[in-house]
Formats: sequence, C-alpha cells, structure tokens
Amino acid sequence: MDFNSGMGAVQRRMAQTQEGVGRRKATFEALGIAAGQHVLDLGCGGGHLLRDLALSVGSKGRAVGLDPSEPQINAAKDLCKELDNVEFSQDSATRLSFADDAFDSVASIQVLEYIPDVDAALAEVHRVLKPTGRFVSVSVLWDHWRFHGPEPKLNEQMHEAFKAHCSHQMLPLQMPAKLARHGFVGAQCTPIGFMNNSLHHNSFAWLASSLLSHFAQKQGIPKADVERWREQLDQAVEDGRFGFVSMPVLTTAIAR
Ligand SMILES: C[S@@+](CC[C@H](N)C(=O)[O-])C[C@H]1O[C@@H](n2cnc3c(N)ncnc32)[C@H](O)[C@@H]1O
Repeated sequence: MDFNSGMGAVQRRMAQTQEGVGRRKATFEALGIAAGQHVLDLGCGGGHLLRDLALSVGSKGRAVGLDPSEPQINAAKDLCKELDNVEFSQDSATRLSFADDAFDSVASIQVLEYIPDVDAALAEVHRVLKPTGRFVSVSVLWDHWRFHGPEPKLNEQMHEAFKAHCSHQMLPLQMPAKLARHGFVGAQCTPIGFMNNSLHHNSFAWLASSLLSHFAQKQGIPKADVERWREQLDQAVEDGRFGFVSMPVLTTAIAR
C-alpha cells in the first residue's frame, strides 16, 4: 500500500472514525503511560496517537513519531504543531536511529503487517526499549477483514485483490512466538473486533470500501466490476443484509 498517495489521506480519515478512536484507546490503556516517559509511535501515520502520547508524558517527557512516508509525517507534524515535546523520524522501523534503551514504551497501530522483514523491526523495537519497557501493537487478521452483501464471486475477487496491499495477512497469530524469539516476555493477545451495518460517509466501512475499490483497480480489476461491487454494497444496505467485519488484535509484551 502506498501511503504517499491518496490512500494515505483515506487512511488518516479512517484513523479518525469511532473504530480508529477505539483502537487508540485500547493501545493507550495497554501502554500504562506515566508523566516524564519517553515513548515511540512506530508508523505514526497522521499522528493521532502521537499527540495523545505527547500530551500525556508532558514537558519532561518525549514522544517520537516515526514513519517512512513524508505526507504521513507532515500530517503528524501539523497535528502536533503546538507541542514542544514531540520529535519526528522519517525512517523505517527496520532501521532505527535511536540509541539502545532509549524508550520506556513503543506503540505501533496497524503497521507491522506492512513491513516485509517484520523480524528486523521487532529486533529494533527490542533494542530501543529499556529492560521492562512495554511494546503494544495492533495488527489486523486480514483474512477476516470482510464485506458481506455483494454477489459471492465478485466479492471474493475484490478481497483476493486486496491481499497484495500488505505483507502479512495473519500476523497476530505469529506475534507471541516472534516476540519470544526477540527477547520479549509475557505476550498477550486481545481481539478488538468490530462490525459496521451502515455505509454512512464517516463509517469505517465506507472508507474501507473506497480504499479497497481504489486498490482493486490498481490490481487490474476492471472499473465496471468495482463500480458494480459498490452498487451491490449499497443494495445490501437497502435490503438490510450489509455487514463489514474486521478483527484487529492488540498484542502486548515486555522487553526482557
Ligand atoms: C495503516 S497506517 C497506520 C498509521 C497509524 N499508526 C494509525 O493508526 O493511524 C500504516 C502506517 O505504517 C507506515 N509504514 C509502512 N512501512 C513502514 C515501515 N517500514 N516502518 C514504519 N512505518 C511504516 C505507513 O507509512 C503508514 O503511515
């Protein structure tokens, strides 16, 4: 997925939906933030979590937003512009420029599944966390990310096309073993699934349908088929049989 394109802008809108707020709240609570801490938001996107983290750690603390995408970093800078304890790093999670033991906690919402060498990223997270530092990440079980309502064959084609949008379809299943290999202890996974029955224009489902439509066309699905799929979504809403289901998983672990 190219977050430098229009899809980045759609992603930032998704982060502001009720479901986006919900996963940030779950992440924030699991981090157990205290004033004065140093925290890293890995793949900070538009900076919504980063801003909350910076406000919480206060002037004696430090919040760093890292993202390789310039438009994402710029959006995050704009959102955090009145805060003086925020720093940015336009970089990949696989190659962090921070010293060993630099952070009390690291957060990462829907980022790791986009990183082909996710083990390199986890090794870096472990390196920059202090011993007993906390890592909290959210990744999606993409095989269960699904629209319901359109005709099955076309619906399947659309979802198949979307598989190429990230590197790891079912990363949460592998996280506990990966974290243990990289020196973390106490990994715990909590599903934070949700369902939308509406396609109103600020719903997660509507924004997700825009993203999927755009991506499917790029993957070679004809525009007419994509339009037909969207019409069938609307029809399913009208008939009272539409649903969109997603199953993100919150994973927490402690650096040893
Ligand atoms: C779905 S967005 C999530 C953004 C933000 N965490 C949120 O919840 O709104 C995924 C983000 O991961 C970033 N990303 C992609 N590859 C990355 C990498 N190798 N290292 C760090 N971030 C990466 C993208 O640029 C994008 O901003």
